[in-house]
Amino acid sequence: MSSTSNSAWSSRLGFILASASSAIGLGAIWKFPFWAGTNGGAAFIIPFLIFTFTIGVVLVMAECALGRAGRGSAVHALKSIGGPAFAIIGGLAVLNAYIILTYYSVIGGWCISYLFDSVMGNVIHSDPKVLTANFNNLVSDGPLSVFFMFLFLTATCGVVALGVEKGIEMVAKYLMPLLFVLMILIIIRSMMMPGAWEGMQFLFSFNWEQVTTQSILNAMGFTFFSLSLGAGILLTYGSYLSNHTDIPSSSVWVAFLSTQAALLAGVMIIPAAFAFGMDPAAGPGLVFITIPVIFEHMPAGAFLAMAFYICLFIAAITSSVSLLEVVVAYLIKEWHMHRRSATILCWGTLFILSSIQALSFGPLSDIKISGMPLFDFSDYVCSNIFMPLGGLCIAALAGWKAWPTMKQQLMMPQAHSALYMGWIRLTISVLAPALVLVVLFSGI
Ligand code: PHE
Repeated sequence: MSSTSNSAWSSRLGFILASASSAIGLGAIWKFPFWAGTNGGAAFIIPFLIFTFTIGVVLVMAECALGRAGRGSAVHALKSIGGPAFAIIGGLAVLNAYIILTYYSVIGGWCISYLFDSVMGNVIHSDPKVLTANFNNLVSDGPLSVFFMFLFLTATCGVVALGVEKGIEMVAKYLMPLLFVLMILIIIRSMMMPGAWEGMQFLFSFNWEQVTTQSILNAMGFTFFSLSLGAGILLTYGSYLSNHTDIPSSSVWVAFLSTQAALLAGVMIIPAAFAFGMDPAAGPGLVFITIPVIFEHMPAGAFLAMAFYICLFIAAITSSVSLLEVVVAYLIKEWHMHRRSATILCWGTLFILSSIQALSFGPLSDIKISGMPLFDFSDYVCSNIFMPLGGLCIAALAGWKAWPTMKQQLMMPQAHSALYMGWIRLTISVLAPALVLVVLFSGI
């Protein structure tokens, strides 16, 4: 998917898979379960689903449509369609992708560490306390977590430097389905554990009292994060779309696959956490602690654990590659750098910043911004402020200033009913901006 070559997706399926593999990443599998756990289960999931299938899906359409019409980096696409002011929004999206990478690489590093451990047969254990201690040791050991972050970052940069044309599309095609199959297997096992049903009730029974401004803001932030919105990804991927691909139906597929992955991950982790007496609100360690206990109770558990961490790593790297591709595409297009040197520049600077993020769980844990550790603060600002803000500007552009372009793109290659187009227009021009504004302001 090199942005400099005149790439095009091999087919509509290729585009859907690549966009879904950017969307399905640590957000769905790592973040969603503990986010749902800490934000009141259904009180978070229901707003998340509503946001996804109203404003989320229409923003996916808008980013792809503007990307296909603008054909270039995120900055170039927005500038050519919206004028110089929108170049700033493109720049913000690139910056956003860059900041996300600084902390995404740290969790990617944890995945590599668990992958190694699972290959050595050291990952599964029946005692959640031991697993919690193992996880805490990893994240608080500065040099160790910097080392694994470095491996993850280097792998991401390696793929982007080589160009990701066939590699990522092929990997997504075979390993994403495997991830789904594994998740379903784990779900079947975890549902058979006594106490699991309570977890299902916790996840899906809705309680108004748990709906807070914060849980709604978090649900919106998560919608943006999980659909990879507002960070220039779909503007870039959209630019490789052929004119024969129908954007509305492809976007619905991307949103559907990404929410399925998140829901499956929630059902995989939360009931098991209840069954083993673990706290569903335990936070970032949830997936790394619960999964090894479930596998301990399964035949061929050590092998399945390895397969699971391979899939998790793949899900993480396909998303981090998409993030880095946005930054590198920008450096190539706007700063006329070579792909290799652009990637090396990102590698070096990201290594420094990601090290600080990695250390924020250990030696630098006392540093707080607005009362949050650096890691949480960066995620909060990117997911809950920058991405929605980017989405707001894209909605304004696609729904108002550039609606004729947007409409033309959505009607290519096939026309859609006036009712459907009317719904899209209403959502993109009124509903999306209004919802984002209300939630953003109430959050501030
Ligand atoms: N959607 C990815 C995930 O869920 C994260 C991401 C955000 C990727 C923004 C690209 C852009 O893990």
